[in-house]
Amino acid sequence: MFLALLKFHADLAIGGYNERVKEEPVKRIGILTSGGDAPGMNAAIRAVVRTGIYHGYEMIGIERGYHGLIDDTMVPMNSRSVSEILQRGGTILKTARCTAFNSVEGVQRAVETLRRRNIDAVIVIGGDGTFRGAQDLHDAGVTTVAIPGTIDNDLGYTDLTIGFDTAITTVMESVSKLRDTSSSHERMFVVEVMGRNCGDIALFAGLISGAEEVIVPEMEFSLPEIAERVNKGMQGGKSHFIILVAEGATDPYEFTKELERLTQINTRLAVIGHLQRGGSPSATDRLLATRMGARAIEELRIGSSGVAIGLRGNVLTAKPIAEALAVRDRLSMELYRLAEILAR
Ligand code: F6P
Repeated sequence: MFLALLKFHADLAIGGYNERVKEEPVKRIGILTSGGDAPGMNAAIRAVVRTGIYHGYEMIGIERGYHGLIDDTMVPMNSRSVSEILQRGGTILKTARCTAFNSVEGVQRAVETLRRRNIDAVIVIGGDGTFRGAQDLHDAGVTTVAIPGTIDNDLGYTDLTIGFDTAITTVMESVSKLRDTSSSHERMFVVEVMGRNCGDIALFAGLISGAEEVIVPEMEFSLPEIAERVNKGMQGGKSHFIILVAEGATDPYEFTKELERLTQINTRLAVIGHLQRGGSPSATDRLLATRMGARAIEELRIGSSGVAIGLRGNVLTAKPIAEALAVRDRLSMELYRLAEILAR
């Protein structure tokens, strides 16, 4: 085990992704969550902390994402620090988007804090901005491992990010409720969902909640054509319409107004907003977070740095963060076509 903890000399590649290595073994590990919170982040923190302690590491919680590294706000963590959090949404470590960390000075201050605190490695949980921060730390000589935690599912190198499954379940439940009122009033509902520039939440949630239309940033749409399909559906006996619109696709207010004008159907807009980010993580998110958290520690044990944990099929992967970020996120055309077919 001692040998497994050793990291060797700079620029020596081990297993294809071990980019930088030191002579000193990792003893103290910091963990932080950054960017938008996502259900399952706590489950990942728990897995990291308990697996780390099991292997003899000291664990330190870094608060408010990269702010905690700049401001030196940290807490020692033991097994009890992560009791009762597996089922909780949000993140006990707090999170933030830290612009100060986007500068050379910010990264330098973080490195100094880590040195002062004798923290040898940092595990970060978050989305692409968090990953870029981890890459900066890695480039500055800090051992890092990144875990994908974002409801957006917008990291193309992994099939799933922690939080996505819970978010689409929340959308599905909200749409079920909206469908009741939509059907009773013979109204149309435009439902705006999150996802930044990624249409995965809209597409997956659309499929599992039977939306009539899914509007995503990756695909062009024509309002007159949508209106025509809605009118046809109405003539064919449909009594309700649910149109899921990804936030990155269009202005939902304009979209709703224009669709109502074109169809002459009473139309309401529902913005689900941050409800999608909260709540107890689903079984899938808990399991994913637990596996990824444990794997992050395993990566440190074999001397990896600058790597991102991912999932392909049902297999966990670890690849250089830079490579992971370079994989373009693509909308699944197969699922998009399926959504079109099933909505008619
Ligand atoms: O990245 C997660 C996310 O919820 C996006 O879907 C959304 O665009 C953004 O964060 C909202 O950010 P904020 O919580 O800062 O308003």
